Amino acid sequence: MRKTFLFYTGLILAVIISLIIVVNLKKDEMSNDANGQTRRFGRNIQVLTDVQTKEQLTKIMEDMANSLGVKCNYCHNVNNYASDEKETKRKARVMLKMVLTINRDFINWDRAEIVDCYTCHRGQTKPQARSASK
Ligand code: HEC
Ligand code: HEC
Repeated sequence: MRKTFLFYTGLILAVIISLIIVVNLKKDEMSNDANGQTRRFGRNIQVLTDVQTKEQLTKIMEDMANSLGVKCNYCHNVNNYASDEKETKRKARVMLKMVLTINRDFINWDRAEIVDCYTCHRGQTKPQARSASK
């Protein structure tokens, strides 16, 4: 009697917990970004709003990290990628806007070499400001 009761209580608890997990996963997948768009990934995407897939976003992030010679944690709290707590991430967002504007409005002729983070940063967080010649 007691055993059956415990079994059913356990089963019901397991079902409830699974449901909570599923609902939370869905919420994470289908959240809104700053422009009110429903996205399947990324809860705090303000500039890269045209990025369609998680793979594309990851590729951009890896390129940015390599261009600056850093790892993800230079800009991110790796336990919460959506957080803007690091100043470097907030600066990087300004940089992203700048680069997108340069390529859209200025270097937009046929087959122009596009400007990216590496154009200036060359593997460093602070680009060298002046010619190295003395
Ligand atoms: C130079 C800073 C920088 C580095 C390095 C960087 N990121 Fe990002 N990351 C950003 C910025 C800025 C955004 C927000 C972009 C936007 O608002 O459109 C972002 C957004 C993200 C998001 C979306 C989070 C959300 O839910 O909104 C993920 C996931 C992410 N980065 C993963 C990574 C990973 C993984 C790496 C390492 C391979 C990495 N990032 C390296 C600056 C950086
Ligand atoms: C036109 C040149 C240029 C381009 C292109 C550029 N940056 Fe920068 N970036 C700078 C300069 C200059 C600074 C200021 C460095 C300093 O504070 O001495 C800077 C600073 C930063 C910083 C802050 C560094 C710190 O230690 O405070 C981050 C993060 C950053 N850039 C990320 C990026 C990312 C990501 C991209 C590509 C999306 C990018 N930058 C593209 C010129 C550029």
